[in-house]
Amino acid sequence: MKIEGKEYRTIWFENNIVKIIDQTKLPHQFIIKDLKSAKDAINAIKVMEVRGAPLIGATAAYGLVLSIIEKNDLSFLKKTAEDLINSRPTAINLKWAIDRMMNKLSSVNDNKILEIALNEAKEICEEDVKFCESIGLNGLKIIEKIYNKKKDTVNILTHCNAGWLATINWGTATSPIYHAHKKGIPVHVWADETRPRNQGANLTSYELNEEKIPNTIIADNTGGILMQRGEVDLCIVGTDRTLANGDVCNKIGTYLKALAAHDNDVPFYVALPSSTIDWNIKNFKDIPIEERNSEELSHIEGLDDKGKIKKVQIYPTKSKAMNLAFDVTPAKYVTGLITEKGVCEASNDALQKMFK
Ligand code: MRU
Repeated sequence: MKIEGKEYRTIWFENNIVKIIDQTKLPHQFIIKDLKSAKDAINAIKVMEVRGAPLIGATAAYGLVLSIIEKNDLSFLKKTAEDLINSRPTAINLKWAIDRMMNKLSSVNDNKILEIALNEAKEICEEDVKFCESIGLNGLKIIEKIYNKKKDTVNILTHCNAGWLATINWGTATSPIYHAHKKGIPVHVWADETRPRNQGANLTSYELNEEKIPNTIIADNTGGILMQRGEVDLCIVGTDRTLANGDVCNKIGTYLKALAAHDNDVPFYVALPSSTIDWNIKNFKDIPIEERNSEELSHIEGLDDKGKIKKVQIYPTKSKAMNLAFDVTPAKYVTGLITEKGVCEASNDALQKMFK
């Protein structure tokens, strides 16, 4: 997708270096950062220079490539794989990408390993682009149906950033929106700010602006009243881990939005590539929920009056704060899952039929 009219992807490989868009600097600075070692890749995931489930999976895959470039040694590769999986706990894509890479590399001889690793990392990226595009085309039908009935702008609420910046291109939740816009369907997006890291404001609204899609940032608690007023036609969010029974783990606050949608008969869709399905965990309480540094809540960063980026403390110095990064929306509140293979019910039967 475009930034200032120029096409980008979120990650690419050039001259033995992995290039990323540093998302900690958006929206105020657009900086392309070099990852030169496995350690750089692990750090980029941890500090969220890259974030969003599909993109951290792709970065982990490239992290293994960087590890082979640094030292072509199996025990070093295995240690890097372990560190990459542990760099963030909730999104299943990390483990999915590492398992896929390690399966491919386990029986390869030393002089071929780099070429094979690089091809597989590139393939993970290409596949994600294809899947996100298909998610867009499948989700487009839902938006089209609402538009054909309403004959007016379709208002879509989204949470966090499940846009192209969270994937390689297109995004998951935003892909149907981009496809609808391309087709000439008038859409408007309510972008939940998404405290504490403000991915909705800093990333979703930013990328929609660059693609000229009308959008409005709202405080995280605003969705409920907008739904009561009939100003939300549908919600589309992303996911970091979808259980086989259709329960959906996503950015903190998603669950409350799903409850409000349920109470107001607003369709609540979750867009996902199959790489975010966890076929093993049976009970959502077993999903590891990331707890991040409370400083992400107590401090905030923005532009000062001289246009310089500045961080300030907003909470009382003596207050404690707790920063859980994800929650789980039970399948019963999910209208449907928009996947690369089609739209299905959030249930074991439907997911099995679609993917197994
Ligand atoms: O903490 P983040 O910014 O990595 O969280 C991202 C999300 O919750 C996204 O909604 C999810 O990864 C889906 S991205 C297509």
